[in-house]
Amino acid sequence: MRSYLRHPFWQAVGLMVIAYILIVFIIPALPGSAVVPKSVVLQYMATVLVGVLIWVSDDEARWTTFKEPLHDVLVQPRLKVIRTAVLAAVTLMVGCITYGQVKASVAAPPNLRSIHPAPPSQITFRGKTITLVGLDNPLRRSGDMAAHLAVGHRIYYENCVPCHGDHLDGQGHYASGLNPLPANFQDNGTIAQLTESFVFWRVAKGGPGLPREGTPWNSAMPAWEDFLTEDEIWSVVLFLYEQTGWKPRTWEVSAGGSK
Ligand code: HEC
Repeated sequence: MRSYLRHPFWQAVGLMVIAYILIVFIIPALPGSAVVPKSVVLQYMATVLVGVLIWVSDDEARWTTFKEPLHDVLVQPRLKVIRTAVLAAVTLMVGCITYGQVKASVAAPPNLRSIHPAPPSQITFRGKTITLVGLDNPLRRSGDMAAHLAVGHRIYYENCVPCHGDHLDGQGHYASGLNPLPANFQDNGTIAQLTESFVFWRVAKGGPGLPREGTPWNSAMPAWEDFLTEDEIWSVVLFLYEQTGWKPRTWEVSAGGSK
């Protein structure tokens, strides 16, 4: 035991253990101090390690004695069992750490997002200000409904089908690669709950236009403002309701499309 105490290697190990006990158990127990966070423990231990290494290497003789046990474990035939055990332990440790980092976690996402955040009361669409509050689909009051639906049908199949699917159920070909999934319009939790002006806003501004409470969340929903005209968007909105059979939420019943 005596010889161990005088050996620089075991002295170094002892210092590290004392430092660890001090940082993790003694310091937090002192009046007025709190638990030391893991990252800080790591920082302190790294500092102690550097100090210890400077001390053992500062004297040539001490440095040589310090390295002896390490060297022996690596080459001495009589230490084969320890060598194998160390190798296995290191391998296992790296394996465990890697597994811990890559394994899927079942924890709830840290931020709850709102699927239907409150829409802005007005938006700018291609430089024109549109007030969303109280707004209904203007195409319901002008022109020929069958013609509007034909346009909506064309727009949907030209632009929306790869994600939202042939059955408007969010099962398009690209859907499985997306998270969050494309909205399933057949489900009573999407357009059935919304006013047409809310749907217009979502189509025009897409994922990038979601307010902060609608994030953090990489919605793949494109902003269609630059690709579709105002009437084309209103037509595709008509088409969504017509195809699914849902009635849009109206402004008389409630004060908003937000949920
Ligand atoms: C690249 C895939 C993709 C395309 C193409 C796409 N969408 Fe989406 N869409 C999504 C995703 C993903 C969501 C769900 C996340 C979100 O709400 O932003 C979504 C959500 C929506 C919502 C919101 C529904 C709700 O309950 O809030 C509407 C409305 C919508 N899409 C309409 C359309 C229309 C109309 C088109 C075609 C003009 C279209 N989308 C094209 C991916 C897409």
